[in-house]
Amino acid sequence: GAPIEVDLAPVAQGQDIKVFWRGKPIYISHRTKKQVEEVRAVPVSSLPDPQTDQARTKEGHEQWLVVIGICTHLGCIPIAHEGNYDGFFCPCHGSQYDASGRVRQGPAPLNLPVPPYQFVSDTKIQIG
Ligand code: FES
Repeated sequence: GAPIEVDLAPVAQGQDIKVFWRGKPIYISHRTKKQVEEVRAVPVSSLPDPQTDQARTKEGHEQWLVVIGICTHLGCIPIAHEGNYDGFFCPCHGSQYDASGRVRQGPAPLNLPVPPYQFVSDTKIQIG
């Protein structure tokens, strides 16, 4: 599949959009300052799949999270803005992900993967 460009300008803070890339759902979250502060305050060693939020986002664009929206347990599509961690909730078996897409609770073994992407301008990304 070819790379896709996504215009982020219409996505307000606190909103998520879903796009498709290579047939996969991709969630793009415009995180609030509070969400970014919260996920960065979590001790990484306490996580089932220890990754910093910094490693999962782009420097200078930390308000944006881009993840593949496929639960790492058995492949259901998690719901954005649900669950106990202000992130994503998988309705199939209850896995909970935080606003960095990191698994915090439930049977999912791994964080939601971050697809390859880059900022081509302040308000546009290219995925793929
Ligand atoms: Fe998401 Fe099982 S597929 S928790």
